[in-house]
Amino acid sequence: MRAKSGIEIKTPEQIQAMRRAGLVVARTLRVLREAVKPGISTADLDELATREIRDAGATPSFLNYHGYPAVICTSPNEVIVHGIPRPDAILNEGDIVSIDCGAIVDGWHGDAAITVGVGEISPERVRLLEVCETALWQGLAQVRAGQRLTDISHSVEASVRAAGPYGIIEEYVGHGIGSAMHMDPPVPNYGRPGRGPKLREGMALAVEPMIVLGQPDTAVLEDDWTVVSVDGSAAAHFEHTAAITPDGPWVTTAEDGGEAGFAAIGQTGLSQAAAAQTAAARAAAGVG
Ligand code: MF3
Ligand code: CO
Repeated sequence: MRAKSGIEIKTPEQIQAMRRAGLVVARTLRVLREAVKPGISTADLDELATREIRDAGATPSFLNYHGYPAVICTSPNEVIVHGIPRPDAILNEGDIVSIDCGAIVDGWHGDAAITVGVGEISPERVRLLEVCETALWQGLAQVRAGQRLTDISHSVEASVRAAGPYGIIEEYVGHGIGSAMHMDPPVPNYGRPGRGPKLREGMALAVEPMIVLGQPDTAVLEDDWTVVSVDGSAAAHFEHTAAITPDGPWVTTAEDGGEAGFAAIGQTGLSQAAAAQTAAARAAAGVG
């Protein structure tokens, strides 16, 4: 079904399938986060992701998407998004690497990304990651029935701007998600609030701020995929998929449904909504 705005509306059953896909993504990213160490290659990470997703009985969504040649995107340092895993891309102490992962279960999608430090990283880079992840959760807190699309955009931007002079990437944005990975509407990470389609129950969005330590100008490398910052400054990218339930946002790609992430920004009402959804899903799946 579609809303007047053209945005896909999911049934509660379809959202449960998105949750199953989201959990595969969440668990895969957890394994990858733990695997990131000095000396590992980004191709090694891709191999681990392939195994996790296939062993879960899910399908990787990135592989062959518009000809994309791998299961995950791995984007070190000045690479913002869409870095291709390579055996000769070895991660070193002090690097940061963004890992983007998507999976499909029963035709329904989950999409999420994290940026991870390799060994010990500079305080400036620690902060970059924190600022980006906080902005993500501020955006996700707006994924609620009755809000408008750009309330998400505005919350992300305001959160970043309040933190310091970070560059917010404008050429790449979040998106609707459900029966396909990239659907309407685009979800920019900047802009005035109160614009765009009204959000309603059954919609699902991927929110994904990308920020850099320098200027937000981007370039695409010769491989036609790798997006870098023109000034070479380090980039962070965090992403989650969230579905709109009657109780609020259900972050399908967070293992706890979003509880800890919302609690970290002081949104305890939303974390209760996430907890209710998690409990309902566990009951439906027949687990304690
Ligand atoms: N998952 C990315 C996004 O967040 C897109 C990956 S593009 C692909 O929207 F080609 F690698 F699949
Ligand atoms: Co995405």
